[in-house]
Amino acid sequence: MSELENIAKKMLAKGKGILAADESTGTMTKRLSSVNVESTSENRLKFREILFSAESMKENIGGVILYDETIKQKTSSGKSIPELIKSFGSIPGIKVDTGAKKLAGSPEEKITEGLDGLRERLEEYYKLGARFTKWRAVYNISQKHPSELAIKSNAHALARYASLVQESKMVPIVEPEVLMDGDHNIKKCYEITSKVLKECYKELKLHNVNLKGTILKPNMILPGNQSKSKSNASEIAKMTIKCLKENVPSEVPGIAFLSGGQTEIEATQNLNEINKINDTNFVMSFSYGRALQQSALKNWGKNITDINNTQKIFNHRSKMNGLSASAKWSMDLEKQLTA
Ligand code: G3H
Repeated sequence: MSELENIAKKMLAKGKGILAADESTGTMTKRLSSVNVESTSENRLKFREILFSAESMKENIGGVILYDETIKQKTSSGKSIPELIKSFGSIPGIKVDTGAKKLAGSPEEKITEGLDGLRERLEEYYKLGARFTKWRAVYNISQKHPSELAIKSNAHALARYASLVQESKMVPIVEPEVLMDGDHNIKKCYEITSKVLKECYKELKLHNVNLKGTILKPNMILPGNQSKSKSNASEIAKMTIKCLKENVPSEVPGIAFLSGGQTEIEATQNLNEINKINDTNFVMSFSYGRALQQSALKNWGKNITDINNTQKIFNHRSKMNGLSASAKWSMDLEKQLTA
């Protein structure tokens, strides 16, 4: 097995998933102000260091996606953040896109940027300890969107990114996120996600990306958050598996879903249902940001010296998602273990 395949497998080993802690400074500032904490570089580090030193890092977190600021920071004991993550047997990774910008030619849509100078930045991140990377493309669903232009241009950028990352001996996480915003039904999400994934894999193949050394980070197939028709976890799981089976080549070793605005419990429950009926060879796990951090952040905002309880809450969420990655979660366990 190649080194890239090894890294991808380790990141999504049994009962493990990925902690997405790669919020840009702008996004992190919004998150911190929602709990009345000032967004200084010190506070951003404090919260993240609490998560990265929690007990569940050993059992349930196979990789952590960092932001440029964090990968260069040092912990209170002087260790670098990547060293801290590695000390738990987890793998440090880095978000390398520079954000979704207005797409020229279809200005209501977004194109993700960050290819200029990427080869050099990758070299620097590798030296800092990163062994995988992330790039996120976003697609909005409306009557007219996503356009063919948005689908094609984002797939092209994702493929150029993935190919450069493998050249730098790291595993690319390919994240084409079809957003949950809107009043569309679950069928529409399935249809658009299918188109998006098809185009992504066409481009990844064209760019000679070794799919065995990649991880896909997709959205689950869900109705829009303003939709009148609701779907239960079983329908979500069936549609999600169908879409992935039809559009993701079997060489891809692992799929790590984003939470994308689902509540913590929804994200856990849906992943559990997916794993209950997973009849593919893909490992299906999580790469959650909000769905792993929300409750911990809320607690921390009440008292930023309360490291113990903040870690307990984070450990609980990580454990619940670890269980759902093996189809072993239940609402009863959720309650028993919280009590
Ligand atoms: O790119 C998005 C993040 O890595 C995942 O965040 O789980 O809050 O959607 P989320």
